Amino acid sequence: MASRAWITHHPEGERRVVVTQELPGTRWLSILRAAGCRVDVCRADLPLTAEEIRAAIGNRCDGAIGQVAESWGEPEFRALRAAGGCAYSNYAVGYNNVDLAAATRCGIAVGNTPGVLTETTAELAAALALAAARRLPEGERFLRAGNFRAWLPTLLLGTLLRGKTAGIVGAGRIGVAAARIFVEGFRMNLLYFDPRPQPELEARVRAFAAFLREQGEPAVTCRRAARLEELLAASDLVSLHTPLTAETRHLIDARRLAAMKPEAILVNTSRGPVIDEEALAAHLRRHPGFRAGLDVYEREPEVAAGLLELENVVLLPHIGSATPEAREGMAVLAAANVAGRLLGHPAWNRPDIGPFLADPPPAASPSILNAHELGIPLFGGDGGEAAHSGLHPAADRE
Ligand code: DGY
Repeated sequence: MASRAWITHHPEGERRVVVTQELPGTRWLSILRAAGCRVDVCRADLPLTAEEIRAAIGNRCDGAIGQVAESWGEPEFRALRAAGGCAYSNYAVGYNNVDLAAATRCGIAVGNTPGVLTETTAELAAALALAAARRLPEGERFLRAGNFRAWLPTLLLGTLLRGKTAGIVGAGRIGVAAARIFVEGFRMNLLYFDPRPQPELEARVRAFAAFLREQGEPAVTCRRAARLEELLAASDLVSLHTPLTAETRHLIDARRLAAMKPEAILVNTSRGPVIDEEALAAHLRRHPGFRAGLDVYEREPEVAAGLLELENVVLLPHIGSATPEAREGMAVLAAANVAGRLLGHPAWNRPDIGPFLADPPPAASPSILNAHELGIPLFGGDGGEAAHSGLHPAADRE
């Protein structure tokens, strides 16, 4: 097995599951153990290459848990199938690193981890918005360099968010959670752009506006933008929450950056390629009052030339879901996705993933993206919308 260090848990297990990185918590291991699995975990601080993944699968492997930084394509799913496997889970909600069609062709069920990292990621979007608005890293660099000699009336002036407009691009779970922080925490007005209207979100903002009016405070507003350009032109803060697809690659390009306010803030906690990074670097250079907060990069872990030298961009190393709550929850869901398949359980068909974090968890795989295509029955034999649309509500999108 390549030259990496591996650790084996429950060597007595009659099934074999490969996990390409150590995962936090212990409950995920208990779930796999209860499913009769021996678990081989790679202890690496760099992602496995495709070749190393295939070597790890070897000639006997029932299931695997992999990472966003790895590429899982046709050859890896073929190898898994040939080794007797039928289940893979990404340790992430996003799955742009996975060739889902290839997995389906190979008969491999693919899981992801929605619903457990929503608030953690939304909080990071808010943190980036504040850090960029109030120039926090710049201020810290200034102080650590020994430049703080006196309080000055014009030192590091930033942007007040209260009363301004937040534009949310993609109103899935994380987009809605971020919208609520911007509205209910920062009292920003909300514009959102999404193919589907979000009546629940709109009703919440209306109720919050009514509460503010009762308190004699300025109300907040909420509106769905008909076009992305409309949102970009009107927003003081734009926060991106779309999955990465062929349609969203370079969604924010030079033309759309130019459509934004010259002193706007752009936050990205979704996927790097949603922004044309070269265009963003050029825009930030030309408009020192424009600010960005990025957690993800086009060619991760590489950062586009020029961005590192700029003061008006806050850069984080893809830590959107980095809290123990989220990361342990993700491990539980990934393990339950694989264990559920190996035990022949149905696929969960409800948007609420919470029951998997309680004991005992449901006898189901929490989020299988290709359940419909593979003919995996739904939990409780639901014949409703999910079964008909081919959409698994929990897996649909974050
Ligand atoms: C995801 O889950 O898609 C993140 O990017 C990693 O948490």
